[in-house]
Amino acid sequence: MEVKILSARFDIDNAHRIDVARTHGAYRALDKLFAMAPAEVIEEVKASGLRGRGGAGFPTGMKWGFLPKDTGKPVYLAVNSDESEPATFKDRYILVRDPHALIEGIIICCWAIGCHDCYIYIRGEYTSQVKILQAAIDEAYGAGYLGARVAGRDFRLDVTVHRGAGAYVCGEETALLESIEGKKGQPRSKPPFPAVVGLFGCPTIINNVQSIASLPYIIANGAAAYRAYGTEKSCGTHLFGISGHVERPGMYELPLGLPLLEVLENVAGGVWKGRKLKGVIPGGSSTPVLTPAEAATVTLDYESMAAHKTMFGSGGIVVLDETVDMVRLVENLIAFYHHESCGQCTPCREGLGWMLKIVRKLLAGEGTVADIDLLRELCDNIEMKTVCVLSAACTMPVRSYLEKFRDEFEAYALDGGSPQPEQREG
Ligand SMILES: Cc1cc2nc3c(=O)[nH]c(=O)nc-3n(C[C@H](O)[C@H](O)[C@H](O)COP(=O)(O)O)c2cc1C
Ligand code: SF4
Repeated sequence: MEVKILSARFDIDNAHRIDVARTHGAYRALDKLFAMAPAEVIEEVKASGLRGRGGAGFPTGMKWGFLPKDTGKPVYLAVNSDESEPATFKDRYILVRDPHALIEGIIICCWAIGCHDCYIYIRGEYTSQVKILQAAIDEAYGAGYLGARVAGRDFRLDVTVHRGAGAYVCGEETALLESIEGKKGQPRSKPPFPAVVGLFGCPTIINNVQSIASLPYIIANGAAAYRAYGTEKSCGTHLFGISGHVERPGMYELPLGLPLLEVLENVAGGVWKGRKLKGVIPGGSSTPVLTPAEAATVTLDYESMAAHKTMFGSGGIVVLDETVDMVRLVENLIAFYHHESCGQCTPCREGLGWMLKIVRKLLAGEGTVADIDLLRELCDNIEMKTVCVLSAACTMPVRSYLEKFRDEFEAYALDGGSPQPEQREG
């Protein structure tokens, strides 16, 4: 089931070093790239069907096409390497095991969009990762792949690494831009969208690390070769970080469109300790949970996830076995989003705090069935009434747990305790 496109160099010793990476194919797309006009590159990326791997799945080539022409202003690329969503750890593999794929992808993107200054925004906690990335960038400058004449062409490109300070909200694209500008990391109201008014007021493209690292394969091998993997609308491959209660957690590159349960069984070794499956978080903590029945019919692509009323998200799959207490899980989830709220919208700043208080009341055995309904009502009142979707990233999954595992919340309200024997003993 596994394929090796993005992960082709992951298991090669020292592939983060430019000499090793080059021996195994890094920077080979550049000759082809510079023989293409920028508009041709954008068309090739559109034809590949590549969709943004940061979570929303927006078509990458189409996004580049939104840049206004001839504004007289510089165009910027901001690579989103914030990777702070719980259960998401795919970009880290690229940064550490194949940073030259990312740098080559940056060169491709910048040639296509006419950008000479790229920023990589990396999460603050990635301290060892940032050292590897910066060393790779320094090597790329030394080898002439970055700087005044990229690969000997009349094309300047500078890449600057900007470290975050540990705020999840700075992964939201406009908060990320504010943070690079040296301001407090708070999302901006949209429109205007960053493609028109982005970094320092200039047209800006923001793309995820994996989106950018997918480009060398597409340019070197052509859009059709990329489309040979995946489904008609969910093209190519994706890095899936599988964690939780499975026998073999880890990072696996798979073509899009495979049945979720087959992947869990055949790739990740199935639910651990011979236990039963209780639920699956399909794409990071912000995605609505799937029941075992839903997990049995969903495939790993954007369309099937939407048809199952959840989201593909970041490809961070979490397997929950039968011992998980869903009310405690929800407490943990809300606590994270409440803590990470930037505070500028009242429904998010206050509402997530109220939700946390209600869940904690239930956990303390002091809640009522009316509290469960109030929790649900709060989700409806908070969602989509805020500047960014951080609040919805909390309310959407919480609503799914309330709908699909209501009996567990009621057990706390009516019985004063967890329906899970393990939790009661603990
Ligand atoms: C609260 C929040 C956090 C986000 N965190 C990330 C992140 O860590 N990495 C990322 O690539 N996108 C993240 N996104 C999505 C970005 O806003 C943006 O859609 C993405 O970087 C675009 O790149 P893509 O088109 O290549 O997917 C986040 C969005 C929100 C609302
Ligand atoms: S929804 Fe929350 S995180 Fe997003 S801008 Fe509003 S307060 Fe900030």
